[in-house]
Amino acid sequence: MEKNVEKRVAIVTGASSGIGLATAKMLIEKGVKVYGLAKNEFVCDFDYIQCDVTNLQEIENTYKTIFEKEGRIDYLVNCAGMGISGSVENSPNEQIQKIFAVNFFGTVNMCKLIIPYMRKNNYGKIVNISSVAGELPIPFQTFYSSTKASIESFTAGLAMEVKPFGIKAVCVLPGDTKTGFTKAREKNELDDASYGKRVEKSVGQMEKDEQNGMTADSVAKVICKALFKKNPKPINVVGFKYKVFIFLSKILPKKFVYNILYKLYAK
Ligand SMILES: NC(=O)c1ccc[n+]([C@@H]2O[C@H](COP(=O)([O-])OP(=O)(O)OC[C@H]3O[C@@H](n4cnc5c(N)ncnc54)[C@H](OP(=O)(O)O)[C@@H]3O)[C@@H](O)[C@H]2O)c1
Repeated sequence: MEKNVEKRVAIVTGASSGIGLATAKMLIEKGVKVYGLAKNEFVCDFDYIQCDVTNLQEIENTYKTIFEKEGRIDYLVNCAGMGISGSVENSPNEQIQKIFAVNFFGTVNMCKLIIPYMRKNNYGKIVNISSVAGELPIPFQTFYSSTKASIESFTAGLAMEVKPFGIKAVCVLPGDTKTGFTKAREKNELDDASYGKRVEKSVGQMEKDEQNGMTADSVAKVICKALFKKNPKPINVVGFKYKVFIFLSKILPKKFVYNILYKLYAK
């Protein structure tokens, strides 16, 4: 466990809602100076900056402003994200590009531009939020799952590149979590008779699981633990149940694992 966390400066994206908001509040409780970022203006009792993670200029300006004021940026937590649902065949290309722009390239943009600032102090911790869906792909949320799998390999590669600069990058993988994510999911309305009621059933099940899922606070706890640990684990799965699922998926034949996922979410 690190000492002097109260001297640290953190940036949390997606801080207006759900996991990002819970993380911002928890870090403040621990004494960390927090700047919360979100695309839209929001009401809160901590410092916030309106910043779209898909906008490089806004990110540059945000980092510059914070660094000039604080002289350091120690923690970056990338929570900004969105969901889409629908079949691969019928997903509009604009929607596919949008989810990659926000979830994957948004994370890439934030990480890429923070490196020079973290290098200045030879210190930094980056936590990127992936998902259990990055390990266990969910049908009809195939593009969402793909963005999350991409975040995992991106973070692992980045971590090795920046290790000599005292910067650590890890992933946190939440399972179903009760947040505004469910309502904000962009559902694709184009699925036709060939998919029958499969899409509706699958997404309905997912929505139910999310709304009965764990709290944003339980995810924030794992994020804070990863930030405060001297040597955090590269992959931090949230929740015992999901740790077991991922462990089993690694030791069981993929054919068997995908068949279970098919029965749960695609039949
Ligand atoms: N909830 C779950 O079951 C679950 C499970 C696994 C992983 N996750 C991941 O956890 C992360 C947080 O999700 P959540 O559940 O807390 O969802 P949420 O309550 O919907 O919060 C999403 C946050 O992302 C921000 N955001 C979206 N697009 C943005 C953009 N272009 N630029 C800047 N900010 C943007 C939103 O702000 P605006 O409203 O201003 O856009 C909001 O603050 C996401 O990456 C999600 O994929 C969630």
